[in-house]
Amino acid sequence: MRRSLGSISISTSSASGTWTVLELLRWTTGHFTKLGIDTARLDAECLLAHALGTERLRLYLDFDKPVEDSERARFRDLVKRRGAERVPVAHLTGKKEFWSLPLRVTPDVLTPRPDTETLVEAALGLLPGKDQEARLLDVGTGSGAIALALLSDRPKLRALATDLSAAALAVAGENAARLGLGERLELREGLLFGPAAGQRFDLVVSNPPYLALAEAAGLAPELRFEPREALFSGPEGTECLRALVAGAADHLEDGGALAVETAPWQAPAVAGWMREAGFGEVRVYEDLGRRPRVVSGRLARSGGDA
Ligand SMILES: C[S@@+](CC[C@H](N)C(=O)[O-])C[C@H]1O[C@@H](n2cnc3c(N)ncnc32)[C@H](O)[C@@H]1O
Repeated sequence: MRRSLGSISISTSSASGTWTVLELLRWTTGHFTKLGIDTARLDAECLLAHALGTERLRLYLDFDKPVEDSERARFRDLVKRRGAERVPVAHLTGKKEFWSLPLRVTPDVLTPRPDTETLVEAALGLLPGKDQEARLLDVGTGSGAIALALLSDRPKLRALATDLSAAALAVAGENAARLGLGERLELREGLLFGPAAGQRFDLVVSNPPYLALAEAAGLAPELRFEPREALFSGPEGTECLRALVAGAADHLEDGGALAVETAPWQAPAVAGWMREAGFGEVRVYEDLGRRPRVVSGRLARSGGDA
């Protein structure tokens, strides 16, 4: 028997003419794979769960359940936009999990990446112990992902999170409120360290834009949906990173630390700039794909060496 999901018809072993959850997942995974989407099965599961108004893992309990026509129509529209237009899954569902936190995302913020959890892990190792009070500055907070992950892990941490985009800060504020973390997070709009003038912190973190403008042409189609200011730093790509390393010491307490995410090929240069700027304990961390992606350094404590 042949059936169609939208404009494409497929064969099915089922005689009933209805689709089950598992059949839809298999068909869509094959469709996305043919289109060159790396995360075909995961994307199919996220979109089907969204269309059915359920959790992704719930699908595994409902593999044999028939999907109603109205739900299938909703799913078909999502599959079309993901496949043909390459709209990222998070933009279609409006949500993304980061550090096990359910975050709302919109076209105004960068969709948080699993690789950025490397920065969160590094930051946790740089902060004082769990029971100690500490102050964090997150420059270019976007959805609030990094600051919220750290606040969720450290009950005595307080954070200032900044961004040049007021629209991004509105999303970060909404996420903070929904997660019950708003009381310990202050949001301010402005460039780089501008909103933190005259303030010092125990840790400065940032996942700044680090692509060069010339890289725009060769990027994955999904990146067209991300805000430009979240991706591109300038002609070199390293402009923001340089400014962060150069300005951090003026906003850190004695013994305070800086941790930034970089492109893999930028990490050695950033480590060198940190040493030149007077940071000690300079360290490079690898991401999930074993590429160097986070660089950190620590200022000397008063009366001691870095
Ligand atoms: C790569 S995104 C990171 C977002 C979020 N921190 C994350 O890791 O998912 C960079 C963010 O920095 C902001 N940004 C870019 N240039 C900036 C600047 N000069 N000063 C402050 N924020 C900036 C962008 O608006 C964007 O939200």
